[in-house]
Amino acid sequence: MIRLLSAVFLCAVSAVAASVPAKPAPAPDTAAPTPPSPKPAATASASAPIMSVPADATAPAAPGAPRITFSQCHVEGPYVALTFDDGPHGANTPRLLEMLKQRKIHATFFMVGQCVAEFPDIVKKIVAEGHEVANHSWSHPQLSGMSESGVREQLQKTHDAIIAACGVTPKIMRPPYGAFTARQRAWANGEWGYKCALWDVDPLDWKVRNAEHVKNEILKATVPGSIILSHDIHKTTVDAMPETIDGLLAKGFKFVTVSELLAMDKPLPPKPKATPAPKADPALAAKAESPAPQPATPVQKPKP
Ligand code: NI
Repeated sequence: MIRLLSAVFLCAVSAVAASVPAKPAPAPDTAAPTPPSPKPAATASASAPIMSVPADATAPAAPGAPRITFSQCHVEGPYVALTFDDGPHGANTPRLLEMLKQRKIHATFFMVGQCVAEFPDIVKKIVAEGHEVANHSWSHPQLSGMSESGVREQLQKTHDAIIAACGVTPKIMRPPYGAFTARQRAWANGEWGYKCALWDVDPLDWKVRNAEHVKNEILKATVPGSIILSHDIHKTTVDAMPETIDGLLAKGFKFVTVSELLAMDKPLPPKPKATPAPKADPALAAKAESPAPQPATPVQKPKP
């Protein structure tokens, strides 16, 4: 098992290492964790930086321990969170803000510190209009392969820049590419109180620069509790938003910020215990019932 995990891990890491662009930003956050996208296999080409959300992202927390990583929430009601990464952008973010204001809905902006420093007035406007601001690193590197001091600098500089721009202390973060080990997630939660917000809906808007595609993918995949990933640095993504949002509203969805969605999260009902477990290796069965990963376990388990 360990050998298998190692192989998967190495495979995923090399795939990422080979494909992550050298230029820090703008860069995509990629790869929906579940369900598998119904696109033709050909679109999953080697050119796409594929980084799955960590396999334990949706694992329940240990009994009594708060969950700190979310890719989707379990909520009672049609609530979803729209999220926009990698900005703010000088032209596209203000345009998006107008669309959101017209519809009286709030979104969450996972901002790159460099852009926060460049556009503090837009950050102020984001907050003034009721949206949530969150940390997406300073220069969009792959944090999972970095030293603690390197990650600290990336997150602290951005944390400080957001506070300096708008006076609000961010409560959540999203690692670029979704790449953050279980140990790093626990550490960031301890250092800044950050919860790590990933996503379950990914229209691949960084890759397919087509508003109709973005809209269709989001409308197809969004369910109650969804965290919808997109990027306000791309004109085509912002172009897609009026019809996307109106389509979601027509389906009955209600928009909240990520922190609001996380606050609504209810633990999933316990798995039925009456059904005897299938005959299996007792060691594996015991492992499956063990609590969520402990902070001291620096194991990242990306899906292949
Ligand atoms: Ni990003």
